Amino acid sequence: MRISVVGCGYLGAVHAACMAKLGHDVVAIDVDEQKIAALAAANAPFYEPGLDDLLREVQVTGRLSFTTDVAAARGSVVHFICVGTPQKKGENGADLTYVDAAISGLLPYLSSGDIIVGKSTVPVGTAARLAEIIKSAEADAHLLWNPEFLREGHAVADTLLPDRIVYGVLNGAEDHDAVAVLDSVYANALAAGTPRIVTDHPTAELVKTAANSFLATKISFINAMAELCDAAGADVTQLADAIGMDDRIGRKFLNAGIGFGGGCLPKDIRAFMARAGELGADQALTFLREVDAINMRRRTRMVELARELCGGSLLGKRITVLGADFKPESDDVRDSPALSIAAQLQLQGADVTVTDPKALANASRRFPELHYVSDSTEAMASADALLLLTEWQMYQDLDPYHIAEIVASPRVLDGRNVLDPAKWRAAGWVYRGLGRP
Ligand code: UGA
Repeated sequence: MRISVVGCGYLGAVHAACMAKLGHDVVAIDVDEQKIAALAAANAPFYEPGLDDLLREVQVTGRLSFTTDVAAARGSVVHFICVGTPQKKGENGADLTYVDAAISGLLPYLSSGDIIVGKSTVPVGTAARLAEIIKSAEADAHLLWNPEFLREGHAVADTLLPDRIVYGVLNGAEDHDAVAVLDSVYANALAAGTPRIVTDHPTAELVKTAANSFLATKISFINAMAELCDAAGADVTQLADAIGMDDRIGRKFLNAGIGFGGGCLPKDIRAFMARAGELGADQALTFLREVDAINMRRRTRMVELARELCGGSLLGKRITVLGADFKPESDDVRDSPALSIAAQLQLQGADVTVTDPKALANASRRFPELHYVSDSTEAMASADALLLLTEWQMYQDLDPYHIAEIVASPRVLDGRNVLDPAKWRAAGWVYRGLGRP
């Protein structure tokens, strides 16, 4: 199938490469010339495990091309919209500028019977509005909403073999021609047994925001329990293990720590609240305000704990932050709790060094005032305290005996509750976790 993909960020670049791997002929389009040049040279402009290899693999097949010229979409049967929907400046709502521009850019190049497939995360009601725009332009194209559930760090596998596929079709008509076309795009995953749900536009849009809201709520729930555990002298990691053994609850996404960040969960719950307000249903989502508040409190709590750990004052204390990205196996620092804590500590007088295997270039662009050292041993030398804020495996594997010899004071704050307290204490460290005695 001939496919165009508009938008080459985390979602679009991975989607385009995966579609080409599945045997489709793909043209990927983005306004950013640098990004397109990098992708065309099989260099992903961001770190995503397996993506560079996949780009190289499909490049030799000649089935994937990159361009800044949207006219290249002409001749494709399916057009995927994969552009970003960031939070508006100073408001909770989502900025739909890029989605609107993608649609209006495509319109002149559509042929009769083409299918536009929205994958971006959008406020409910967007597909209906865009369908009207397409209709009023007299384009004989059908709009489907097909939300994406990939996780950064696992994006390639999640795209090739998702755990479910959702199609939002006009009026939820399962026998719509567009459904059969998209079925052939996803033939591999469907043949492998991936469940597919066909529904209407608003339900498909809501599936995505509801899923991310649920995940955010689960994380904030366990972080609220961590606050309780701190107050009561209990251990939130054991509590999570025990409640997670109930199948109805499940252990995944119950890791208490410094909370969620990234380009999705924080802005998605805010956009969801804003949209609910517009729809007159704001009361239904007031709990998400609390989810957001609990999440942001984790960062403050971490700064307070660091101060305690340093004997009551951060002034002049050498603090080494392990991890800058919002999660491991990524170089994404958007709304990264780790980086925001590092910046807070610096503001409050600490002398902060940040280390990370992948994210230092992005981090230094965002917070140039922090000190960045790529070699972790060098970064930890003479530290008054270590803060593990992103749980890269290499930090989880640190040898506390060896590290104790290079720091100035063996004090560690485990912001992701991934270290073994007994092991670190046995090696002479003052260990503090979040919600752990
Ligand atoms: C999230 C969703 O998980 C994807 O399904 C969705 O497709 C994506 O957003 C999106 O909307 O595009 P992602 O942003 O890659 O994916 O990150 P997650 O793996 O969900 O992690 C989000 C944050 O939660 C990270 O900062 C992570 O450290 C934190 N987290 C996760 C916790 O603090 N505790 C946990 O138990 C799990």
